[in-house]
Amino acid sequence: MAENFDVKLDSKTYIPDPSYLENSALGDYKKAYAEFLSDPDGFWAEKARELDWIKPWDKVKEWNWPNARWFCGGKLNISANCLDRHVKNGRRNKLALIWKGERGKEEIYTYRQLYRAVMKFANALKELGVQKGDRICLYMPFVPEHVIAMLACVRIGAVHSIVYAGFGADALHSRIKDAEAKIVITADVGIRRGKIVQLRSIVADAVRNSPSVEKIVVLSRERCPIELYSEMEVDFYAIQEGVSEECPPEEMDSEDPLFILYTSGTTGTPKGIVHSSGGYIVGAHYTSKYIFDIKENDVHWCTADPGWITGHSYIVYGPLSVGATVLITETTPDYPDPGIWWSLIEEFGVTIFYTAPTAIRMFMKVGEQWPEKYDLSSLRIIGSVGEPLNPEAFEWYYRVIGRNKCPILDTWWQTETGMHMITTPLGQPMKPGFAGVPIPGVVADVVDKEGNPVPPGQGGLLVIKEPWPAMMRTVYNNPPRYNHYWNQIRDWYTVGDLAVKDEEGYIMVIGRSDDILIVAGHNLGTAEVESALVAHKAVAEAAVIGIPDDLKGQAVKAFVTLRQGFVPSQKLVSELTYHVRMTIGPIAMPSAIEFMDKLPKTRSGKIMRRVLKAKELGVDPGDISTLEE
Ligand code: PRX
Repeated sequence: MAENFDVKLDSKTYIPDPSYLENSALGDYKKAYAEFLSDPDGFWAEKARELDWIKPWDKVKEWNWPNARWFCGGKLNISANCLDRHVKNGRRNKLALIWKGERGKEEIYTYRQLYRAVMKFANALKELGVQKGDRICLYMPFVPEHVIAMLACVRIGAVHSIVYAGFGADALHSRIKDAEAKIVITADVGIRRGKIVQLRSIVADAVRNSPSVEKIVVLSRERCPIELYSEMEVDFYAIQEGVSEECPPEEMDSEDPLFILYTSGTTGTPKGIVHSSGGYIVGAHYTSKYIFDIKENDVHWCTADPGWITGHSYIVYGPLSVGATVLITETTPDYPDPGIWWSLIEEFGVTIFYTAPTAIRMFMKVGEQWPEKYDLSSLRIIGSVGEPLNPEAFEWYYRVIGRNKCPILDTWWQTETGMHMITTPLGQPMKPGFAGVPIPGVVADVVDKEGNPVPPGQGGLLVIKEPWPAMMRTVYNNPPRYNHYWNQIRDWYTVGDLAVKDEEGYIMVIGRSDDILIVAGHNLGTAEVESALVAHKAVAEAAVIGIPDDLKGQAVKAFVTLRQGFVPSQKLVSELTYHVRMTIGPIAMPSAIEFMDKLPKTRSGKIMRRVLKAKELGVDPGDISTLEE
């Protein structure tokens, strides 16, 4: 997508009830932003002081472009910030986690129970030989043990790399291999839409030729001892028998890595985004408290999976660091019927609900009769993340779910940013289609390729001009890929999104400017799908583009040329679709595959996806002077 386009800015404005502003932790946005600008380091130091540090930092920030260090010299432990301090300070018996399984099973953990469970599992990991800095891969269903495993890693200084349990064996294998994971934690099965997913066999496939992996920890969903298939496997609960109940938190340097999370890039290999300890938790805590405005009695429900950054920051680390009650559930939005999520809001009195536009559009399609059956009056704030929330979806969400009173926090951010960056803070007028403004702590702008600000209404590239605490620190094993974010437009962080500003500085994010697709809110590199396709014996070359989709925002369309001896057929379409599903996962499955004799290329041999896209959408392909024929 090119950045030279114009957008009409006649958005309707929604004014929230003044009580939201009066009661918000952030208070007046303009005042808070001015305070930040007048003393950025002082602003972040004040936020960081709300956490527990074993040793305070000597310096708030060291910025040696493009590398930042935050809270230099400070020591802390994130699990102690999410657990110990609440156990000590009055939230001992407060509910930390409420879990609802797809089959109706429920489990609850108070802060004390979670704290004890984390310490035991942390000790079991130590018994397996896990040491500070070791990488642990989690490939788990969304059960409480998933959160326990995350916090246990963090407690002993191990670096978790969570792989969403919907990914296929190849995707899991490449992530295990890149991170050189020592341990993989999984479960016998996952349950999705009433069906059993054999996670353990996917892991068994994925660890072949992964010499770093020493053990596979298998959780039995039914908590009964399970048969172990190989010497590598150990039972999640059996390894906890007899271990000490106490596990003091490891002292971590503020800059020690906290986790790696893989995200799609413009090449076939995903990027291992590395987040730090101190800066990340300051960002996750600050935004949970001052942007989501989580208060003592809130019941917070973010519908993401921990396999995505949204789950890391706004199911686990942010909400638990502020001592919130968090609803977690493995349910999907339409199973057993599209009323399931609304029934959970009614049942548990959810007050803050955070979901994705693709789910909202699905709900719009199936009709208002589903939410109308349930009492949603507990809701006070509703949020959106992952892709642009189009004005129609905004209006439906506001009216039907928010009952014309709940502010919508449409939060723009990324795996790389670690925390919310742009939104409409509580109490500010909301404009459908616009995510909002940079939050205090963030300096963002929309500029042209040379870095000049573009006038209101004109498209440009979104950039972040100053470092922020929760920014990624590097790309694992690949620092040049990290530097690339910072060396495209002046010395700013280039986001990779196209955006437009209006006269008041509200930012509308339009979509990606590179070869990344956002399919149902999930980031997917066209190159990743292409390399899965060309790994199939029938395929000579492949080009993948995103096409508009009413529900998913974008869907995958693939164009392929075949090797000699293969002919196009419907059977081959099904086979290739299945092949992508098994290689990367269901998210990446093409919704259409077209066979071609040759793909459009530049004279230097680069595939011109832009030409395919223009043909598909019936629009002008722009400059095609470099096209070979
Ligand atoms: O294109 C933007 C889109 O999602 C990308 C980041 O994807 P990921 O790293 O997977 O993180 C998703 C969850 C934080 C962005 O570059 N995106 C995310 N949130 C929004 C959005 N686009 C528009 N509006 C949003 N609120």
